[in-house]
Amino acid sequence: MISDRSQSPFPSVPASWFHLCGSEALNRGPVSIELGGRTFVGYRPQSGRAVVLSGRCSHLGAQLGNGAVCGERLVCPLHGWEYGPDGGCEKIPAADVIPDFARQNSYPTEERGGHVFFFNRRQARFALPFFKGLTPDQLLPAKPFELIADAPWYFVGANGFDVQHFRMAHDRTLLGPPEVSSPSPFARRVVATFAVTGHSFQDRLTRRLAGPHVTMDVTVWCGSLILVRAEFQRTTSYGIFNVLPIDAHRTLGRVIVWVKRSNSVLGRGLFDPLNAAIHRFFIQTFLRSDLPRIAGLHYQPEHLIDADGILSDYFDWLEKVSEPLPTENT
Ligand code: FES
Ligand SMILES: [Fe+2]
Repeated sequence: MISDRSQSPFPSVPASWFHLCGSEALNRGPVSIELGGRTFVGYRPQSGRAVVLSGRCSHLGAQLGNGAVCGERLVCPLHGWEYGPDGGCEKIPAADVIPDFARQNSYPTEERGGHVFFFNRRQARFALPFFKGLTPDQLLPAKPFELIADAPWYFVGANGFDVQHFRMAHDRTLLGPPEVSSPSPFARRVVATFAVTGHSFQDRLTRRLAGPHVTMDVTVWCGSLILVRAEFQRTTSYGIFNVLPIDAHRTLGRVIVWVKRSNSVLGRGLFDPLNAAIHRFFIQTFLRSDLPRIAGLHYQPEHLIDADGILSDYFDWLEKVSEPLPTENT
């Protein structure tokens, strides 16, 4: 029986960084996204630095994502009110006086490795994270892919801390106890080594090409950004799993897989894109096997047993860190 999901202690969307789009998409015009019933719009002013504002026009609520960029401003498609990068309305075609309410919220925005991220509160509570010890120019991203999970957002990051599921869902057998830590109050990390024990074509190929063991290093930032480093004997893959809550039951995952760039020109032109595409294929297959297994999950902390201890601690941490902030007028 499905319990009352409204009893979940988690907000509909955590206060955190979210993926908006690839940087190139923003070069073509405004891009909007909806998170938990709130719309955000990104655009690139002429001066170049990406901007994210609340997406519903302060006049009558038109979608600014359907508007146009004019110089530094984003222009509403309905009556042409023009907003600057700080969200202030700078021009109303039909009036000389601009009322106080004529303003959008503006949100912290960063571009990293060809992707645009924003924090869904007026001030970021922590800096946009990246893989420890690496800069984006050392890595090559593959084309992102998307997955839809029929589960609330807080189960997606939890999947990495659900060490018991790796055997059933991924044919990975745990070797030794996982190490859990908090590299920041806003992040939770688990590192565990597994044997690749499956008999599928992918697993046989993985053992042969990459090696028989993998150390998974998973860091979840406030439930919305999951940074994964999977280190095999002969190769390492990097993934950023962007968690985008659709509603109380469904979550969009947008995954960017990265590989280390080679030092040679030939490697960069030929080998790296192929390597990135291969890693992307394997990771996509790996993650897809979670989807039918996590479909319909609901939060029942009283049903977690001792063997779920790491998962249970993860939920306790997430509950504390994802407290809803005061309602903002968007
Ligand atoms: S709704 Fe945007 S200008 Fe009127
Ligand atoms: Fe999984």
